Amino acid sequence: MPESSMTGKRILLGVCGSIAAYKACDITRSLRKIGAEVTVVVTSGGARFVSPLTFAALSAAKVYGGMFDEQDAHTIPHINLARDHDLILVAPATAQTIGRFASGMADDLLSAVVLAADCPIVVCPAMNSKMFSHPATQANLEKIATFGYQVVQPDSGPMACKEEGPGRLPELAVILNAVEQVFIPQDLAGKRILITAGPTEEPLDPVRFLSNRSSGKMGYALARAALLRGGEVVLVSGPCSLEAPANVEVIQVRTAQEMYDAVLCHFEAMDIIVKCAAVSDFRPAQYGLEKLKKDGADLLLELAVNPDILATLGERKKEQILVGFAAESENHLGEGKRKLAAKNLDMIVVNDIKGEATGFQSDTNRVTILTRKGAVKELALLSKDQTAMAIFDEVMVLGGGGA
Ligand SMILES: Cc1cc2nc3c(=O)[nH]c(=O)nc-3n(C[C@H](O)[C@H](O)[C@H](O)COP(=O)(O)O)c2cc1C
Repeated sequence: MPESSMTGKRILLGVCGSIAAYKACDITRSLRKIGAEVTVVVTSGGARFVSPLTFAALSAAKVYGGMFDEQDAHTIPHINLARDHDLILVAPATAQTIGRFASGMADDLLSAVVLAADCPIVVCPAMNSKMFSHPATQANLEKIATFGYQVVQPDSGPMACKEEGPGRLPELAVILNAVEQVFIPQDLAGKRILITAGPTEEPLDPVRFLSNRSSGKMGYALARAALLRGGEVVLVSGPCSLEAPANVEVIQVRTAQEMYDAVLCHFEAMDIIVKCAAVSDFRPAQYGLEKLKKDGADLLLELAVNPDILATLGERKKEQILVGFAAESENHLGEGKRKLAAKNLDMIVVNDIKGEATGFQSDTNRVTILTRKGAVKELALLSKDQTAMAIFDEVMVLGGGGA
């Protein structure tokens, strides 16, 4: 499996004359970071905002500008650029350029390339909110959508022109998701997926708590994978320092009981539930409103058992696909099989927490997937993003959940 769905993908990035053009520098860097090759075409307006030299350095490639700038005109740049790319991303796209696309004009290099292309085209408008809301711009956006171009809706908020409203270039993560989704089968489209992630914290007093070493990385990778495959994702997360993927509904919880309440509240509306959180099995039986003081004597801590969220879901499940995780330090396959049956799961993902570069906090994982149909799939040592994708591959083999 390649490192990322973007590895080796050739992206043509069109940059127009918007105040948001500087954000295209980050887009260029980020696309390269996830393995894509980037060719930048800057409109004459775009070049007034960011020097093509900057894009040349960031993309490590030749930057294209005017239609007639090319010394090697016999190569017919607009046709070759259109042919040689897997996707065209226009970010930021100005009202002017969107108008050109909508009316089929080809009076600059970018619009000629777009007209000559048969690869997917993603357009990210960025402009003053009145320009964006104007019927002309809206009609142009509707028109390019009928050509099959994907329009990423702009954000609302304060703008450089000191107005507020829709028209801001979306967050980098939203743009990258839109690009990545083009290359990933949307087999979770229409599915609602609940994922739990991270540890829980069980308070003992106002400053102390019982917790575990879960970083949340595996659960967040699952949320991202489900989103990239077109799913509607709810992420119930214990305390962790990770940034949630864009466009995921995040419910932050602290204790096992809070996680139980949040999961049970959403459970019935879900098609797939992946319980990846490392929920504390126990909590301090007493919670002190004041900080516990030491008085020289040992302290015996009494622990109360927490509700078993996975087992409760197993009892209540109907059409849903229920996936559990088991972090085991010994006899991990035996324990996995036992939990799969005992908790009425459809799948269990077992990891050996004693393994090297696997389990808590690491960026990689090596898991074995067991299913109710008896499949046993041992995955290689993979990044958590790849592991997440492989888990959803197996969910799809089981039927994808829902009616
Ligand atoms: C300071 C400044 C900021 C601008 N910002 C935007 C913008 O965010 N969005 C937009 O559609 N046009 C913006 N414009 C207007 C475009 O630059 C202008 O319409 C230009 O013709 C766009 O050409 P292009 O689409 O070929 O780059 C701005 C102009 C100036 C001078």
